[in-house]
Amino acid sequence: MSEKKKPTGMEQGLVNYGDAGFSLFLRKAFIKAMGYSDDALSKPIVGIVNTYSGYNACHRTVPDLVEAIRRGVMMAGGIAVDFPVVSIHESFSAPTSMFLRNLMAIDTEELVRAQPMDSVVLIGGCDKTVPALLMGAASAGRPAILEVTGPMMTGFFKGERLGACTDCRRMWGMHRAGELDAEEIAAAGDKLMPTAGTCMVMGTASTMALMSEALGMMLPGGAAIPAVHADRLRHAEATGARAVGMAKEGLTPDKIMTKEAFANAFKMLLATGGSTNGLVHMTAVAGRLGIEVDLDALDALSDEIPVLVDLKPSGQHYMEDLNNAGGATPILREIRENLALDCMTVTGRTLGEEIDSAPADWGQQVVRPRSNPIYPKGGIAVLKGSLAPNGAIIKQSAAAQHLLKHEGRAVVFENLEDLAERLDDPNLDVNPDDVLVLKNAGPKGAPGMPESGYIPIPKKLAQAGVKDMLRISDARMSGTAFGAIVLHISPEAAECGPLGLVETGDRILLDVEARRLDLMVDDQELEKRRRAWQPVQHKGQDRGYLKLYLDEVTQAEEGTDFRFLMPAKSGVKTP
Ligand code: FES
Repeated sequence: MSEKKKPTGMEQGLVNYGDAGFSLFLRKAFIKAMGYSDDALSKPIVGIVNTYSGYNACHRTVPDLVEAIRRGVMMAGGIAVDFPVVSIHESFSAPTSMFLRNLMAIDTEELVRAQPMDSVVLIGGCDKTVPALLMGAASAGRPAILEVTGPMMTGFFKGERLGACTDCRRMWGMHRAGELDAEEIAAAGDKLMPTAGTCMVMGTASTMALMSEALGMMLPGGAAIPAVHADRLRHAEATGARAVGMAKEGLTPDKIMTKEAFANAFKMLLATGGSTNGLVHMTAVAGRLGIEVDLDALDALSDEIPVLVDLKPSGQHYMEDLNNAGGATPILREIRENLALDCMTVTGRTLGEEIDSAPADWGQQVVRPRSNPIYPKGGIAVLKGSLAPNGAIIKQSAAAQHLLKHEGRAVVFENLEDLAERLDDPNLDVNPDDVLVLKNAGPKGAPGMPESGYIPIPKKLAQAGVKDMLRISDARMSGTAFGAIVLHISPEAAECGPLGLVETGDRILLDVEARRLDLMVDDQELEKRRRAWQPVQHKGQDRGYLKLYLDEVTQAEEGTDFRFLMPAKSGVKTP
């Protein structure tokens, strides 16, 4: 008996009226209203996830990318059908874009699965969009390929080159310290984001783009091409063409996103000195395929892979410079001996084959040789201790080095409102050696684990010239920020983790070399505080997406995905 052929194109996923012939007839009748012929509808169908939104400046070029991808699909003999999903920008998503990342992932998964397509091109860019798309695509299981919008070009203010958002924070700090007046800071605001595209420093968007290329989910060369370059459109066209090939080959995400491929992505994270968010997001993507991230193994990798990429905030260049230096390729070549080279990529060739066939390197200043790194160890260190039983992280490459071993007195802020109210109070009892502690800014506490870990230096200390202090929280931090900042403390304060029990005056010890973060309060006292602890309440927490979120969100070490979207643990670990 011949095996039943798997339906493809318009024939897959029919609405069930009890008569498959009628379902197909009706579907085709509707899509013909879009002007398609039967001949066109017989070709492989490539879905394009269209993430244009008037609220998402980082995705301003998406309509152009859709056109270029469509052209590539047609050149390769397919038809392209674009469709919208949730699109999230960092500055327009209250309470935080992270709160909505899982919603975008669900939207992507369900629409990729529900609608007839043989493969899909995911257009991401801004911080949460790339992880959400990869999470959704991993769960949907159809052949998928990523195109990013690409970074912005740099701007200039009074002759000084600027990068979003490292310089947004730096200049705002200068404004707080009285070094830039209201008129000057407003004028700088006109220059910080001069073109379409994503933040052009080594923030989360740049980090995720480079990690995705190392993961094998993007055509080579795609991570660093600026959003407004013609090369970006050519890359999108090639992506569209390749999506047709992937449809024919059945090259699904699970064949590319293996534990070895995730390890490659984490090695890229360390070599770039990338955003700490890259860790949370890639943990969530891996979790969708039942792969767990082993934080101790990741920390050990940190000793093997130095920071090589000289980009802000750890270094001095910008993404357009990295593109001019060859993009991801020179980084991959420099860490070649650490990579799993036989990992399959979206091209149908292995990562090793792609590295070998990329153009030869040329003289450049952005990617350092291993013999002369920006920072001798990987950018991120994993901490454990009595204050973080399940882990915390610090971006050691971006911190004032003398604070990497530090004991200080805790100055506690109960939540973000408390922080906003008291931080700049001239009467706040705070010294440069103190440890600023922010509670209730984790996945459930905020909710949505905002990028609030970059606690500003209290105004009176900033005005006195203090540039860095030890700051700790269960929040995340923008990859564009810098400082001695401990993040992702788990369990979070809102889960009654030890962070939730810290009081002003307690002693806290950070020792990055020993990978320790300890609260120096005895167990008896902590037990007393635990008994008196009260959970935080959120307005509207009993209904809607907020209820789903609070009921299901996991902690940082599991990627803050929703528990019910993660398959049972398979025992497979990365890196
Ligand atoms: Fe979109 Fe920075 S706000 S990438």
